[in-house]
Amino acid sequence: MNTESPVSRRAALCGIVVALAVPSGLVTACSSSGSPSTGSTPTKGGSTPTGSAGSSPAKLVALADVPEGGGAVVDGPGGTKIVVARLSATEVKAYDATCPHQGSTVGEPSGGTITCPSHGSQFGASDGKVKKGPATSGLRAVGVRVDGDQVVLT
Ligand code: FES
Repeated sequence: MNTESPVSRRAALCGIVVALAVPSGLVTACSSSGSPSTGSTPTKGGSTPTGSAGSSPAKLVALADVPEGGGAVVDGPGGTKIVVARLSATEVKAYDATCPHQGSTVGEPSGGTITCPSHGSQFGASDGKVKKGPATSGLRAVGVRVDGDQVVLT
């Protein structure tokens, strides 16, 4: 039987690679696939940090701040505005809040309709499509989902 585990052999090789790389200015991170003791596994508990790099979803707004049957206009990435419509307790849709008519920011959804305050265009809260002009095209969809008590970008 081989008493040396693949993990310890990998760790030893990793140390050699780091020792060789550091003098030349290279810094490498050794893969820990298969090793459960590296501390790189995300913690459990349902709380995800806001704005962290990696695989954590980007929080957009607390679900509690998006009234059911209505919605909210919130800040999106890069200074954009996003209109979030809450269709049911657990279903949300989101759109770029920029009106396709002349670029005003649309209002919060109400009664299944998103209305632009500038010239009265109306869009469906469930699909973003034009219900009433002068806009001739719908709102651009933004991917979102409910994650616990948050609405997050997908
Ligand atoms: S800018 Fe929205 S209707 Fe004109």
